[in-house]
Amino acid sequence: MTPDQLIAVARAAAAHAYAPYSRFAVGAAVLLVDGGVVTGANVENASYGLSLCAETVAVATAGAQGRLADIVALAVVGGPIDGAGDAPVSPCGRCRQVLNEAAQLGRRDLPVHCAGLTGDRIKTYRLSDLLPHAFGPDDLRS
Ligand code: THU
Repeated sequence: MTPDQLIAVARAAAAHAYAPYSRFAVGAAVLLVDGGVVTGANVENASYGLSLCAETVAVATAGAQGRLADIVALAVVGGPIDGAGDAPVSPCGRCRQVLNEAAQLGRRDLPVHCAGLTGDRIKTYRLSDLLPHAFGPDDLRS
């Protein structure tokens, strides 16, 4: 699957965002080593601070399928529900740390493809550039 295809899947996932408070929809898609894809969307909460990000939902769903160590790439897209937003969205700090767990388990440096809900402005980063000197599962092994 190409980055463009993974972004298209993330855009479809963003349609399921539950974002009545921020009105900012985010979709994520993680690509697995066997070509499978797992998606997520942000899930907000009336207690705002409990809201879940799309990337975290996607990674947790992959984990619930026993696939945490099998993630090879991520696409994340987002933008205002009522707007035209083509600005690339990059993962928040917490999501970078959540992604790092999967990356270290699988011993991969993940490409992170970022885009808006529409348009062709795409930024691709390595997770190691987004979260340098990361703390992860390796640090807890003696
Ligand atoms: N959000 C994500 O889903 N992922 C990110 O990486 C950044 C922010 C969500 C959280 C909240 O529901 C909305 O976007 C506005 O912050």
